[in-house]
Amino acid sequence: MISEKMAQAINTQINREFYSAFLYLAMASDAMNKGFKGAAKWLRIQFNEEQEHALKFAKYLEDQGAKVELAAIAAPKTEWKDLLDMFQDTLAHEKKVTAWINELNTLAIAEKDYATQNMLVWFINEQIEEEGNDQDIIWMLEMSAGSKGALFMADRTLGKREG
Ligand code: FEO
Repeated sequence: MISEKMAQAINTQINREFYSAFLYLAMASDAMNKGFKGAAKWLRIQFNEEQEHALKFAKYLEDQGAKVELAAIAAPKTEWKDLLDMFQDTLAHEKKVTAWINELNTLAIAEKDYATQNMLVWFINEQIEEEGNDQDIIWMLEMSAGSKGALFMADRTLGKREG
């Protein structure tokens, strides 16, 4: 069993993961409209991953006998200046998610809730990977600045993502 406060905090995180999914789907659509099919594919895969994150938290609540409480999801932004602007936003967003996961862990530590601390290890590692991937893409896009050919190749590289 976990505390009511912990369950509430995880429910808030479920909403944030679904918001993340919405954000990446909005980015995918904007990328597609701008002709960046590779980036759109990358972002749709990320959309799927974010839903999996939400479901992972939901399953944890259910396994702990707590109730999943879904709330309205905020509308994301729909337009970005270019791919670099978009991926700078992905990194900024993931840094926020990392801070939220850390807050959950801080609460779990304060409550001596070892099960939740253990569950969060997966998310802590996932955030290291997500921030690293976003940073790599930002560097690639910065190096492509001013060259349409390089940007084309960067988009193709993004399209190679499989999961
Ligand atoms: Fe669910 Fe991108 O962290």
